[in-house]
Amino acid sequence: MARTSRTPTATSPGAGYERSRLVADHDVADLSLAEAGQVRIAWADGQMAVLRSVRERFERELPLQGLRIAACLHVTSETANLLRTLIAGGAEVELCASNPLTTQDDVAAALVGHGVAVHAIRGEGEDAYGAHVIAAAARAPQITLDDGADLMSVLHAGDESWRARLIGGTEETTTGLVRLRALQDEGRLRCPVLAVNEALCERTFNDRYGTGQSTLDGILRATNLLLAGRTVVVLGYGWTGKGVALRAHGAGASVIVCEVDPMRALEARMDGCEVMPALDAAGRGDVFITVTGARDVLAAEHFQRMKDGAMLANAGHFDVEISVTQLAGLATARRQVLPLVEQFELAPQRRLNLLAQGRVVNLAAAEGHPAAVMDMSFANQALCVEHLARHGAELEACVLPVPPQIDREVARLKLASLDIEIDELTVAQREYLTSWRS
Ligand SMILES: NC(=O)c1ccc[n+]([C@@H]2O[C@H](COP(=O)([O-])OP(=O)(O)OC[C@H]3O[C@@H](n4cnc5c(N)ncnc54)[C@H](O)[C@@H]3O)[C@@H](O)[C@H]2O)c1
Repeated sequence: MARTSRTPTATSPGAGYERSRLVADHDVADLSLAEAGQVRIAWADGQMAVLRSVRERFERELPLQGLRIAACLHVTSETANLLRTLIAGGAEVELCASNPLTTQDDVAAALVGHGVAVHAIRGEGEDAYGAHVIAAAARAPQITLDDGADLMSVLHAGDESWRARLIGGTEETTTGLVRLRALQDEGRLRCPVLAVNEALCERTFNDRYGTGQSTLDGILRATNLLLAGRTVVVLGYGWTGKGVALRAHGAGASVIVCEVDPMRALEARMDGCEVMPALDAAGRGDVFITVTGARDVLAAEHFQRMKDGAMLANAGHFDVEISVTQLAGLATARRQVLPLVEQFELAPQRRLNLLAQGRVVNLAAAEGHPAAVMDMSFANQALCVEHLARHGAELEACVLPVPPQIDREVARLKLASLDIEIDELTVAQREYLTSWRS
């Protein structure tokens, strides 16, 4: 694989942060992939009407003029369109990967052509990954975008000069927010961070519809299963579990929900699902989907009750929800029956099928969230960056919710892109709704 890099990069974070000042303008796998990357970026852009409209406004208003922005995100075509939007707003942009396994090398190459200082190579080792995050931090960004808080963490651990101009950041995942809140609890968070992951828009559309659809997409790609007439057991009825259950129901499956929270269990019942403990569901399900965030949600006692041919998939963040160790411990034999399906033989005469090694199935067996869903998340990100550019100096140095007007603006733009109009309150209605007299 040809690597292109204009100046030497630091190869190991252990070599000291100082060394990373010698960073390249870019460090990508192969610049000749740029044309293919450009096609992919354009395809995603076709699904990202909200972000496009934000970009058009940014081009006119230049709200990010002269700002240095660093992003540590999955290097994908959707991210590329977010970065194009920030550049259109007048920013200088730096990019490193938030996960080396999801980097699309052709997109990374194309982004160099868009003027982004990209430091990301698919499959890069831990040292190169660390050096690339350091490279982004060492340029002392004013605004950061994170998916897992690696960039913010390195910025806070590194040279004081790296934080000198820091205005604020955004965070895209639960895990990242956990880390940032820990930093905040130690009194060390130096700037405001907007919790994009917790925005209403993100929860409602990204988790419910994005994960809901792509989880089933992953299961179908891995197995080519007919869902109609099957019993799908969804373990966890949170934001994402609801989406999975909704889509499974829509595909003609009967849905059983297993929960530990009484409110969510009741909600599942009223949404038309059967609700029962996982041990009872174990003998009923054809397909099991864990989406709880907890560990060992499916374990030996469940496997022992499952029917021959049951499918096991996980859509939670980590591969701990299905205990593969306990499954392997019960098995008399195991074999790979399809590229993403491993079959475990249990006595007497039962075969259980584990999809994608129990890893997050919508990413491991499909392509994650569709661009149309990332469109709303990333429009939210772009508007949060604009908010930080305008108001960051006035905000407290802590993890903050996304301002509600940003959520509303994203929803408004999405409706406009779908050519959907809605009613507005009349003056009399507005008065009625804000008065105690009437
Ligand atoms: N695959 C993806 O693309 C994707 C997207 C978003 C979130 N996630 C992940 O999915 C997981 C769930 O996220 P969420 O936003 O729905 O969280 P959530 O907190 O809204 O919902 C989780 C639900 O699981 C329930 N639960 C916990 N332990 C359980 C157990 N042992 N048995 C049954 N139910 C249990 C909780 O009561 C809760 O209702 C997390 O790991 C999250 O990181 C994955």
